[in-house]
Amino acid sequence: MATTSFAPRPLPPMVKKSAAWIRAFRWILNPLDVLEKRRDRFGDIFRINSRAVVLGHPDYISELFARDGRELSTPGANNGILQPILGDQSVLLLSGDRHRHRRKLLLPPFHGRALQSYGSIIERVAQDMSDQWQPGQRLNGRKVAEELTLRVIMETVFGIGGGDRYQEMGPLMSEMVNMISTPAKSTFLFFKSWQKSWGPWGRFERSRDRLDQLLRQELEDRRAEMERGDADNRQDILSLLLTTRDENGDPLSDIELRDELVTLLFAGHETTASALAWAMYWLQVQPECLEKLREELDGVPEDTPPMAMTKLPYLMAVCNETLRIYPVTVGVFPRLVEAPFTLGGYQIDEGQALIGSVYLVHHHPDIYPEPDRFRPERFLERTYSATEFMPFGGGSRRCIGSALAMAELAIAVGTWVKQGNFELRDSDSLKPARRGITMGPKGGVKMKFVGRRS
Ligand code: HEM
Repeated sequence: MATTSFAPRPLPPMVKKSAAWIRAFRWILNPLDVLEKRRDRFGDIFRINSRAVVLGHPDYISELFARDGRELSTPGANNGILQPILGDQSVLLLSGDRHRHRRKLLLPPFHGRALQSYGSIIERVAQDMSDQWQPGQRLNGRKVAEELTLRVIMETVFGIGGGDRYQEMGPLMSEMVNMISTPAKSTFLFFKSWQKSWGPWGRFERSRDRLDQLLRQELEDRRAEMERGDADNRQDILSLLLTTRDENGDPLSDIELRDELVTLLFAGHETTASALAWAMYWLQVQPECLEKLREELDGVPEDTPPMAMTKLPYLMAVCNETLRIYPVTVGVFPRLVEAPFTLGGYQIDEGQALIGSVYLVHHHPDIYPEPDRFRPERFLERTYSATEFMPFGGGSRRCIGSALAMAELAIAVGTWVKQGNFELRDSDSLKPARRGITMGPKGGVKMKFVGRRS
């Protein structure tokens, strides 16, 4: 990172060799390639279009998070592309005080006692899935990971693990996520003029409307259950949100509840599934890591509580390295510059949007030598600051579900690796590809369940 005491200079201008729509398509199709090329040419800070500036160094990102809520704001409107899915009342689309208050209401179910109780759900789901795999069975690591994260999110968020409504809601949610799972499919999110009632958009809208109907029914039933006093022991997020009150003592409205529930389903399902699929992939291509992990897991006594997995050093190093090498989101949500300031000697102007690039920071050779190598040991050799390792972002929009996501990763990987042998069916090295607004292993992870370990 270059610093200077001279007068701030303007950022290098955008070199527009191609039309704006071609650049937009390149960004949608292969954001990592665009980022790497610009970093190689301009360094740790550069423009990505006439308004947006990308930051690729932890020092810049520390400044970004420190200025969050002061010179920088995170207008929910920046996430407007997600509005058709999440609705207007989602925490992701709120700004300023409303955003801060909503976060306060949403955070408790992701910590403390509630979080501890989710550990057994994750372990049960992981165990149930692996009990059904037959020796020699072909698996797609991506699909397996999606099933786990969907089942976990349905149980932790809604508190439902079976029944007709669950049977319909789960596939509907997967269908909606899958409709935006490839760059070609997700383009309709980026271009409003493509959002027509026929074709993929129409299908998407019909699934969303049916999901909303089921959610409304679930809300009604849960309220009735609470009135009867039958929900006192429930730890699921819906039950906790139904009892929560804002600073005026008001409950969340049905629309607010709907939008938050879909947000949690959406933000928590796809993201964690990508990370879990990558973890299973890396452990197969790096047998020495798998061996070390097995050694650690074999030393864990049978009756250890599931959440203890999140304290195992090598398992956590594997999970961290998975999130480092191909982070699920290329960058954090854009921050809007409300008042000008200087960053690394550059003039940052009002109206610009700053994007902290998780991918570039995680691949900075000064911080991570051999950045393209999967090497969990690096997380045992030193600790990284909150802006050197930042898969969950930071500042005022830091991921609400990070602890749940880490628990899912650790417990699912730990359970499956301890009990089974897997192998990859494809020797080609996997690259990341866009899935909606996240990045996941291209084409899934083709694996075989070899059999149970004796
Ligand atoms: C490996 C899994 C996950 C990753 C990598 C991830 C990553 C992120 C990132 C990078 C952000 C933006 C932070 C920023 O702009 O500074 C974010 C926000 C968010 N995440 Fe996650 N996330 C994951 C799992 C989850 C889960 C399991 C949930 C909930 C069930 C969740 C809920 C949210 C919500 C609600 C926000 C928006 C917070 C706000 O606007 O204030 N995420 N996540």
